[in-house]
Amino acid sequence: MTTMESLIGLVNRIQRACTVLGDYGGGTGDDAFNSLWEALPTVAVVGGQSSGKSSVLESIVGRDFLPRGSGIVTRRPLVLQLHKTEEGTEEYAEFLHLPKKQFTDFAMVRKEIQDETDRITGKSKQISPVPIHLSIFSPNVVNLTLVDLPGLTKVAVEGQPETIVEDIESMVRTYVDKPNCIILAISPANQDIATSDAIKLAKEVDPTGERTFGVLTKLDLMDKGTNALDVLEGRSYRLQHPWVGIVNRSQADINRNADMMLARRKEREYFDTSPDYGHLASKMGSEYLAKLLSKHLESVIRSRIPSILSLINKSIEELERELDRMGRPVSVDAGAQLYTILEMCRAFDKVFKEHLD
Ligand code: GDP
Ligand code: NA
Ligand code: MG
Repeated sequence: MTTMESLIGLVNRIQRACTVLGDYGGGTGDDAFNSLWEALPTVAVVGGQSSGKSSVLESIVGRDFLPRGSGIVTRRPLVLQLHKTEEGTEEYAEFLHLPKKQFTDFAMVRKEIQDETDRITGKSKQISPVPIHLSIFSPNVVNLTLVDLPGLTKVAVEGQPETIVEDIESMVRTYVDKPNCIILAISPANQDIATSDAIKLAKEVDPTGERTFGVLTKLDLMDKGTNALDVLEGRSYRLQHPWVGIVNRSQADINRNADMMLARRKEREYFDTSPDYGHLASKMGSEYLAKLLSKHLESVIRSRIPSILSLINKSIEELERELDRMGRPVSVDAGAQLYTILEMCRAFDKVFKEHLD
């Protein structure tokens, strides 16, 4: 592991620890933690309903595990943490609400996301802002925190309250408003970019485009004789980062269970052999997007090291005060959690300081 990889890994672990701690709600005054969590970058997926958000997330992870499909499928935010593990170790997933269960069957992960969504919203078309937290441990992922969100819509459908349109938008905003949120703005290529909900929102919360990555899905579904070069080459809407074109699995592929590796191969082939996009082939596709994001994340973290360090030190102080207040040694869950985080903060502090020199 390179040091930078381990740095992002640490950021990931500390975010997870903060989440667990938040879950205990253990009256810690939590200010330093909140600021710390917010100082660490996350990536949120934003776009209209069925634009391909969940599909893009899955391709970045390289596993099948998210509910996807037409209509409103994603109905609660999913905070997904990817933890890169040693080569040769087995891949598994773990939910914050089921801490003792390790999932190695990713079809069961999808089922649990669906069940856990229904547990809060009922089997309905309703949404809830209460996030589901999922961690994936695998040698084949890059260290990243990603958030899958319900899609922006224009009208309420049968079974939804009239306020749903605004409810979804304000839920999405709570993520993308944060200056440390990297926005994956997903637009489908078979719709006019001028009507993109993703770009509209991104433009508003990130006018300079420095934290927005434009992703164009469904290139394979464009009308014959048309192409998306104006968008992909930045002429339609210019962003600071280059646009990335994607070909996800179609609903027919999903129905016949076409697996991820096949999908990736087909996507690669699509770009390599495309008369329109051949010259851009090396900068297109989900694998390229994953690398681009990871590289960006690295530079963001690097630039924040001094401010993150000072927040970590504040957290260490808060934690020590809290542990003193509880009286040591602490055995209860919340105390043990605090202790774990304290140790992590110290490790974190050490690694970050090494990067200062
Ligand atoms: P979300 O609602 O934005 O999360 O979108 P999903 O990922 O659930 O995808 C919605 C539907 O569009 C599914 O049926 C996908 O198979 C399909 N889809 C997504 N991306 C593409 C793509 O690039 N090409 C094709 N042909 N279908 C896609
Ligand atoms: Na959908
Ligand atoms: Mg979705």
